[in-house]
Amino acid sequence: MRRIAPPLALATYAALSSACSYVALDNASPEAAAITKLHWWMFWVLGAVGFLVMAAVAAALSRRFARPADDRQRMRAVAVATGVSVLLLLVLLVASVVTGREVATPAGPDALDIEITGHQWWWEIRYPTAVPRDAVVTANEIHVPVGRAARLRLGSNDVIHSLWIPNVDGKRDLIPGRTNWLTFRPRRIGTFAGRCAEFCGYQHAKMGLLLVVQTPADFALWLAQQRQPSAEPAEASLEHGRDVFLAGPCSACHTIRGTPAFGHKAPDLTHLASRATIAAATLPNTTGHLAGWVVDPQRIKPGNRMPPNVLPSGDLLDLVAYLRSLR
Ligand code: CUA
Repeated sequence: MRRIAPPLALATYAALSSACSYVALDNASPEAAAITKLHWWMFWVLGAVGFLVMAAVAAALSRRFARPADDRQRMRAVAVATGVSVLLLLVLLVASVVTGREVATPAGPDALDIEITGHQWWWEIRYPTAVPRDAVVTANEIHVPVGRAARLRLGSNDVIHSLWIPNVDGKRDLIPGRTNWLTFRPRRIGTFAGRCAEFCGYQHAKMGLLLVVQTPADFALWLAQQRQPSAEPAEASLEHGRDVFLAGPCSACHTIRGTPAFGHKAPDLTHLASRATIAAATLPNTTGHLAGWVVDPQRIKPGNRMPPNVLPSGDLLDLVAYLRSLR
């Protein structure tokens, strides 16, 4: 057992590490690639150190080597071990500084600016424009074009959150009263999951988001569509749904551009149906989940700010159908 213990420990670590960090290591930007490279530097250097230490312990414990060493031999062994440790720490320090520089490359003049505000427990996402009225506001889903730097301006309205989209960059905190920046250059089309990576209260675990990397043409289409006011109800039931929304407490917290609803405490719903998830990537955006969320959000995400809504079933169906029509 003693002989196989160290390789077994290393193999277990390798298996666990590759299983757990698979997503984080599947990099889709040069920033993430730099972090992945550092990960493997650390993995192999520290793995080798761990293996050598275990081998030395095993050798020291085995009877074959159990002969008394004199003081000079001991001193020499300690000096060599200290020297090697300092050297390895220096190597890791240099690797980590180099990675830090690679990750922190300036965004450049053509970067796409996006403002992200953390809330308990969702993400407000704003694409600023010269004319504030034209700014696109959405929630929990960041869209960016492939091949162009995205510069995120990060802030918080309540407590400290941390944005982490492992495929494109490291973590960056969103701190009340302070602005942080995060720049990455997505180089692969796809949808990537992100998370809040700083404990921010009861539903921290349900504060997710999606990053959608699109072709420049698809992104331009998406942005133009998001800039539009909400779709007008095309039939009587949808119109009734909108009336239910405007008459109830919904409009006190949510905005639907093109209607009198302009609350700012909760996600902008102008194009809710275009998003893949609801409740900050907690549930897929389907009619059933949306109805469940409207009726009893506290059951799905206890402690969030949205109250339950007791509605006659006709009102509920029309309200949800209206929300689902907001593409
Ligand atoms: Cu926001 Cu954890």
